[in-house]
Amino acid sequence: MPNLLITGVNRGIGLAMAEAALARGWTVEGSCRTQEQADHLASTLGKGFTALVFDVTDHGRVAEVAASRSAPLDILINNAGVIGPEPDRQSALAMDFAGFRETLEINTLAPLAVAQAFLPRLRQSPQGRILTISSQMSWMGYAKSDRLAYRASKAAVNKVMQGLATDLEPEGIAVAVIDPGWVRTDMGGAGADLPAADVASGILDVADNLDMSRTGRFFRWTGEEREF
Ligand SMILES: NC(=O)c1ccc[n+]([C@@H]2O[C@H](COP(=O)([O-])OP(=O)(O)OC[C@H]3O[C@@H](n4cnc5c(N)ncnc54)[C@H](OP(=O)(O)O)[C@@H]3O)[C@@H](O)[C@H]2O)c1
Repeated sequence: MPNLLITGVNRGIGLAMAEAALARGWTVEGSCRTQEQADHLASTLGKGFTALVFDVTDHGRVAEVAASRSAPLDILINNAGVIGPEPDRQSALAMDFAGFRETLEINTLAPLAVAQAFLPRLRQSPQGRILTISSQMSWMGYAKSDRLAYRASKAAVNKVMQGLATDLEPEGIAVAVIDPGWVRTDMGGAGADLPAADVASGILDVADNLDMSRTGRFFRWTGEEREF
């Protein structure tokens, strides 16, 4: 059974993935930002779950937590993310630059920093894999300008992960990005198409089947490959 690490498990798709993975008998490490949340998650998720406390933008703390653990890690899922500044403050003509910068820190830079920090443990696995939750809003085929900070952060993380896939190919560590669709969470809202539990299960299937023949690619939560 795989040993999985997911960032941002205190709510949304991250929590649904942690629950689904534990139900499959996988071992799960999940991050949240406060000790209080960690204690709550440990008691509600129970056996097989370990809570880690870090903000994904605090690279020093991420490295410290990563170095404090030693078991081989089979799968890392970079899930933590934000939608960015207020909708009327993230178009090309009205941009909250501080908010844009923060969005890039969380959605683009952090997944790479987390991957680097946990790489020693991924290298110990016979089949280390890294999956990052991107978005259909990253697609270059859309000329839309709403939520531009978010769109740009997800397009950028796709490119970063493609580069990581290239760099880790010689080591046999597969790296991919995933479009989870439009999901009913705090971020997606109550009107979204998909229940988090269904998407979570689909993402775990993609992670489970990720091998070197699929590295560097972009998948839908249903498992089919999609264009960048
Ligand atoms: N929902 C959708 O329709 C949809 C569509 C496409 C892509 N996605 C992507 O799917 C992923 C999960 O989204 P979701 O819908 O589950 O969102 P969500 O319900 O808003 O949950 C976001 C998670 O990310 C964590 N997080 C945010 N900033 C963080 C930071 N600096 N450090 C550590 N954790 C942080 C949150 O923790 P706190 O509670 O501490 O803030 C929370 O656990 C995101 O990457 C999102 O962009 C979602």
